Amino acid sequence: MISRVGVGLIGFGTVGSGVVKILLENAGLIRRRVGVPIELVRVADLDVTRDRGITLPPGVLVNDAKQVLSDPNVDIVVELVGGYDFAKRLILDAIAAGKTVVTANKALLALHGEEIFAAASRKGIDLGFEASVGGGIPVIHALKEGLAANSIQSIYGIINGTSNYILSRMTNEGKGFAETLVEAQKAGYAEADPTFDVAGTDSAHKLAILVNLGFGTPVNFKDLYTEGITHITEHDMAYAREFDYTIKLLGIAKLVEGDVEARVHPTMLGAESPLAKIEGVYNAIQLIGDAVGDVVLSGRGAGDLAAGSAVVSDIIAGARNLLKGGAGRVPPASFQPGERRPLRLRPMEEIRSLYYLRFMVTDRPGVLAQIAGELGRYGISISSMLQKGRREGQTVPIVIKTHTARERDVQTALSQINRMSFMSEPTTLIRIEGKDE
Ligand code: NDP
Ligand code: HSE
Repeated sequence: MISRVGVGLIGFGTVGSGVVKILLENAGLIRRRVGVPIELVRVADLDVTRDRGITLPPGVLVNDAKQVLSDPNVDIVVELVGGYDFAKRLILDAIAAGKTVVTANKALLALHGEEIFAAASRKGIDLGFEASVGGGIPVIHALKEGLAANSIQSIYGIINGTSNYILSRMTNEGKGFAETLVEAQKAGYAEADPTFDVAGTDSAHKLAILVNLGFGTPVNFKDLYTEGITHITEHDMAYAREFDYTIKLLGIAKLVEGDVEARVHPTMLGAESPLAKIEGVYNAIQLIGDAVGDVVLSGRGAGDLAAGSAVVSDIIAGARNLLKGGAGRVPPASFQPGERRPLRLRPMEEIRSLYYLRFMVTDRPGVLAQIAGELGRYGISISSMLQKGRREGQTVPIVIKTHTARERDVQTALSQINRMSFMSEPTTLIRIEGKDE
C-alpha cells in the first residue's frame, strides 16, 4: 500500500516558489483529495541561499538536479527550470526512470513536444503540462478530457499575460510600453527573455500546444505566423476605440476546409467577443467544439500562484493515477499516438480577414483616391474610412477598414502603396476578427 507520494522539484524560481507554497500551505486539503500526503522530498536550484520567503524542511533544498532524479523517494519530477537543453535532458531522464513528470515549459514542448510525448507514451507514464498554456486556467485538461467528445473547430486565445497586461495598461491608463513591461517583469509574469512575450513567440509556443491537442496534428511553432505588439501605437489604440474595437494579442487556430489555420498577431476585437474585456494579466481561451459550441475559460495567465495552481493540479492527477495504477491513462498529446493526423498548415497569404490599415500620408488632394484605387485593383473593398483634421502638405493619418479580403491581395496592394511618394512610413496593418458588416 502506498502511504505517500514524493515530489522532487527542479527550479525554485517564480513558479517553483508558487508550487512549494501551495504544496506546503494546502497540504491538508491536498491529502484529503488524494488520499495520502504529497511529500516535498527534494527541491533543487542553482542558488540555495536566496531568501524566497519560504521555509523548507531541513535537507530538502539541494543545488544539483541529479539529487532529485536519483532519489528513490521521488515519484513525481517537476521541471520548472525553463530553457531547452538541460530541461529536455531532465525530462527525458525522468521519463526513462519511470517517474511521473510535470513541466510548465511551453517553449520546450512547442519545439520538442513530439519527442517528449513519444517517450512518455512508450514508458506509459503521466506527463502533465497544465501550466504551459494559460497559467492557472485548466485548458489542457479541458482539451484532453472535458471536451474530448468534440471535434474542435476553432481556438481563440489571449495566451500571454505580459502582453495583455501591457496592452491593457496602455489602453486604459495611457502608460508607456517600456514602463509597463518592467511592471510585468517585477510581478513575475514575463519570460526570462521578455522579447518572447512581446514578440508573440510565447503565444506561438502555446498556440502550437493547443493546436496539437485540439486538432490532433503535430505542429512546430516555428511554422506559425507570429507577430508581436511592439509596433502598436497610441494612435492605433485611439482609432480602434473610434471603431468600437479593442486591440489584443491573439492566438487564432481554425479548421478551414480540411486545413488548419494557426497564427499569432495583434487583433482588433468588437465588444461581442468574449475576449474583448479580458484585462491585465488575465488570459482567456475560447474553444469552439462541434457538439458543445462555445466554451470560454478565463483566469490569471501568469504569476507564481496561478501557474503554481496548474502545476499542483498535475501533481495531484499524477499522484491519484500512481495510487490507482492509472498512470499513462490519458495520452500526452490527447489523441492515441498512432491516431494523430497531420493536417496542412494553411499558408498565411491564403487566409481571409477584415483589415484595419493606417496610412501616414502627405495631406494633398488625390491621395485618398490613389490608395482606394490601388486597394480596388486587388479586389479589396473598403467598409469605412477616417481622416481627422486637415494639415495641407504635412503628414496625416488615413485609416481604412476593409471588408473580408485575402491576405495575399492586401499585402500586394500595400507593397504598391508603400512605394507611393506621399507615404511617409510603411502602412500599419492590424487584422480584425468579427462580422463583416
Ligand atoms: P525563473 O527564472 O523564475 O525560475 C527558474 C529557476 O530555475 C531559477 O531559480 C533558476 O536559478 C533555476 N535554475 C536554472 N538552471 C538550473 C539548474 N541547472 N538546476 C537547478 N535550477 C536551475 O522562471 P519561472 O519560474 O518564471 O519559469 C519557469 C518555467 O515555467 C519556464 O519554463 C516558464 O516558461 C514557465 N512558466 C512561467 C510562468 C510565469 O508566470 N512565470 C507561467 C507559466 C509557465 P537561477 O535564477 O539561480 O538561475
Ligand atoms: N510569460 C508568460 C506570460 C508566462 O506572460 O503569459 C505564462 O506562461
